[in-house]
Amino acid sequence: MEPSTGILPPMNKPAPQPLDPVAIRREFACYRQAGAPLVYLDSASSSLKPDCVIDAVANHYRQTPANIHRGLYPMSEAATAAYENAREQVRRFINAAAREEVIFTSGTTDAINLVAHGFGNALQAGDEILITGLEHHANIVPWQLLRERRGIVLKVVPITPAGEVDPTDFRAALGPRTRLAAFTAVSNALGTETPVAELVALARAAGAATLVDAAQAMACCPVDVQAWGCDFLAFSGHKLFGPNGVGVLYGRRERLEAMNPFKGGGDMIRAVTYERTTYNDLPYKFEAGTPPIAAAVGLGAAIQWVEELGLPRIATHEAALVAAAIEQLAALPGVELVGRPRRRRSIVSFQLAGIHPHDAGTILGTNGIAVRAGHHCAQPLMDYLGLPATIRASFSVYNTPEDITALLAGIRRTQEILG
Ligand code: ALA
Repeated sequence: MEPSTGILPPMNKPAPQPLDPVAIRREFACYRQAGAPLVYLDSASSSLKPDCVIDAVANHYRQTPANIHRGLYPMSEAATAAYENAREQVRRFINAAAREEVIFTSGTTDAINLVAHGFGNALQAGDEILITGLEHHANIVPWQLLRERRGIVLKVVPITPAGEVDPTDFRAALGPRTRLAAFTAVSNALGTETPVAELVALARAAGAATLVDAAQAMACCPVDVQAWGCDFLAFSGHKLFGPNGVGVLYGRRERLEAMNPFKGGGDMIRAVTYERTTYNDLPYKFEAGTPPIAAAVGLGAAIQWVEELGLPRIATHEAALVAAAIEQLAALPGVELVGRPRRRRSIVSFQLAGIHPHDAGTILGTNGIAVRAGHHCAQPLMDYLGLPATIRASFSVYNTPEDITALLAGIRRTQEILG
């Protein structure tokens, strides 16, 4: 039997081969085409897309561009099969119990808004929704809009100075009126990995439902919704090497059954009269209108690509890069790291003393180094940190130690120009 938490690999299995980012780059047109070296350190914003994803989308449009679930002819049936196959790939990837629990959305934001309407609109004034101090605006603003609609109370678990969510603080913030705890698995601004299973268990013990924002987690962490025990999980395709415009809401079947649709239109109905509409079965009840068919097919190709690389290998590769980046950044005069979480995924945020992050981001950009500089759609977190913005470098499968060397050289150049 394999050890469940052991650090050593089982004796009868060879250690997995490390990822070869230089070989991986050959699968990305934007690396092949780049005139100058491409130093892409902004995968937390959007990952680059391998050829197999671009080909899957293009071939879909070339070969089976018909609409789905509607046509009784072969091209439509093939398109339907491809779309539903992508749903099954997602189901397997996140270990959902059933394909009906996988709803295609336009992205993480759309998925969270779906829950804010479908689940949230059934709440009463005074019911509480709990979020953490690490959240992206996509996991703040939908609850504020719900507060305006329903009079719910939005509570925030404060984070520690290191940028972590302390389960003790989380437990203390749960109360008899907490209906939903919605929190990120990985902070997009600081890289903090939250203890998802532990937080879910605490919320469930308090009788609250849970929503996990997995936007930053999907491309680096094995995600298992049944092991986590969450009620909802949201993510986007474009941060997972897939296309823009497609994302997923996972919902536990009984939660989704109990929810009203968010959007009305074609395909989400069983029967419509002017007096009354009955809704379609899951998952279609939540997929009004023509969905992002080609993008879903592309997401399926991206998932297959990630599965072939292997998430443990990806995680090992990125952990080494982020550890090296932190060590080298910390040793550079004038660099201040922002956040010191003990469990971190492939994101590091920092400041340059006396230089606004936007100015630094611009100079780095003109020197061919793509980072994100800004509030990272997490203004309340920036307020807590007392910062207007940070510079953020994020790492993925195609990044190399030389990218870190280039980042450091870019920082020194920025300091020479602006310091
Ligand atoms: N949410 C994306 C980011 O963190 C856009 O950059």
